[in-house]
Amino acid sequence: MGLLDLFLQSFSSISLFGALVVLLLVYIFSSSFSSQDEGKGPPGPKPLPLLGNLLQLDLKRPYHTFMELSKKYGSVFTVHLGSQKVVILAGYKTVKEALVNYADEFGDRYSMQITKESSGGNGVIWANGESWREMRRFALTNLRDFGMGKKAFEDKIIEECTYLIDVLKKCKGEAFDTTQPIYQAVANMICSIVYGSRFEYDDPEFTSLVERTNRNIQLLGSPSIQVYNMFPWIGKWVANRKELHTMVAANKEQNRRLFTCLKETFNPQMCRGFVDSFLLRKQNLEESGNTKSHFHDNNLLQTVLNLFAAGTDTTATTLRWGLLFMAKYPKIQDQVQEELSRVIGSRKAQVEDRTSLPFTDAVIHETQRLANIVPMAIPHKTSKDVTFQGHFIKKGTTVFPLLTSVLYDESEWEHPRSFYPAHFLDKDGKFLKRDAFMPFSAGRRACLGESLARMELFIFFTSFLQHFRFTPAPGVSEDELDLTPRVGFTLSPSPHKLCAVSCM
Ligand code: HEM
Repeated sequence: MGLLDLFLQSFSSISLFGALVVLLLVYIFSSSFSSQDEGKGPPGPKPLPLLGNLLQLDLKRPYHTFMELSKKYGSVFTVHLGSQKVVILAGYKTVKEALVNYADEFGDRYSMQITKESSGGNGVIWANGESWREMRRFALTNLRDFGMGKKAFEDKIIEECTYLIDVLKKCKGEAFDTTQPIYQAVANMICSIVYGSRFEYDDPEFTSLVERTNRNIQLLGSPSIQVYNMFPWIGKWVANRKELHTMVAANKEQNRRLFTCLKETFNPQMCRGFVDSFLLRKQNLEESGNTKSHFHDNNLLQTVLNLFAAGTDTTATTLRWGLLFMAKYPKIQDQVQEELSRVIGSRKAQVEDRTSLPFTDAVIHETQRLANIVPMAIPHKTSKDVTFQGHFIKKGTTVFPLLTSVLYDESEWEHPRSFYPAHFLDKDGKFLKRDAFMPFSAGRRACLGESLARMELFIFFTSFLQHFRFTPAPGVSEDELDLTPRVGFTLSPSPHKLCAVSCM
């Protein structure tokens, strides 16, 4: 009988006290039980039975704990989350080596209990094997066809900027929360790619979809969901789990309705977006007698939800950090605005302007580096046994590539914990590419929206700074602007308000 079973049985039939006594006894009699003793696996702190290293973990900011542990155990180490063994990879050289040189070995996805329940292994983010390969390839092709690298899409971002700037102008320089307008503008870019059209900002269909997506990402990183992932049997006591499932169900329902509308007006000669394109592929496969392909309704739904979640929260959050940094560091904001007015004046910024705006480009990169919005990437899993840097790691082991440790690597960055755009500038003020800039991760599972995100970040950020001066809310000093991230699966700024004072 497994330890968990023993604990569960004790919990239900005797009492919590009884179960704890059992645990204590098991612990006392298993004094030789430590992660170092399990084969030749990476070292790590000694785990308690069942709890693993839970008591050492800062559940709100687990990446902090892992950064601390890497100082003691090195760049490849083991922690136990409950009874689950997780290998942490830390530092630029190690993370890069694992994800790029051992791309296959470290390229599977580990799906947490909560994401397994909601995705069913479909879509891109939480999938593996042939289904993942097909969905990833199809999503990438379509992101290219309907978005990335296309002039038409660049024009769509520029058009969305106009709507967004109008919203900010309506605030008339008064303090506002940057979350909703930025989320909506960025979400509309995904809507254009996925459904083939944007929504009005006051459309309740749209606002609810965006709000739920935002809330889901927050819940996914909440301490109670993390504990639930380790001990799924506590499920019914976790209110956040219930809320998350309710919201995912509502998002699925809403998408099914949107798909029905698209099907009613579907024209195979003219694909409007990703959904049409998927339906067309599905239809062609069915007509050719292939009924067992991966192009089925669940994969469509899950891939759309993935693109929406991964493509909205990340880019919007990065933009919000960018504006917060500008308000906090007004001298850097001055330099960006000086460069923008000198190089492009009042005309609309385009992607091709990037090369002539090295300072602005450096500020965007530094925003992504310091904001570190996906601190532990998304969990990976080894696809086969691997010996890495002398450590044996078994097939199926969960792996966290600690992106924080790359973006804050002291041997790569001069001022890892400060906002220092010069990280990305050479001595002549030209833009300098840095290898350790890895906010999109690397290897087989690297972000598939990177080009799209970079395009959006550049156009939205430059347009904001061309039109407005960002300052803290009245009565708040620059020093008082808090850079502590909010708890969530991605790291967004803590709630705050800024003023956008029109300067055009
Ligand atoms: C600033 C913006 C963004 C950042 C920082 C970012 C970062 C990341 C990171 C760190 C991962 C995990 C990689 C890994 O597991 O090793 C990821 C995966 C992913 N991203 Fe992004 N992302 C951004 C924008 C986007 C956009 C705009 C889209 C889509 C339109 C997107 C779609 C995805 C998908 C589908 C995956 C899962 C890939 C897979 O499992 O094969 N991301 N992203």
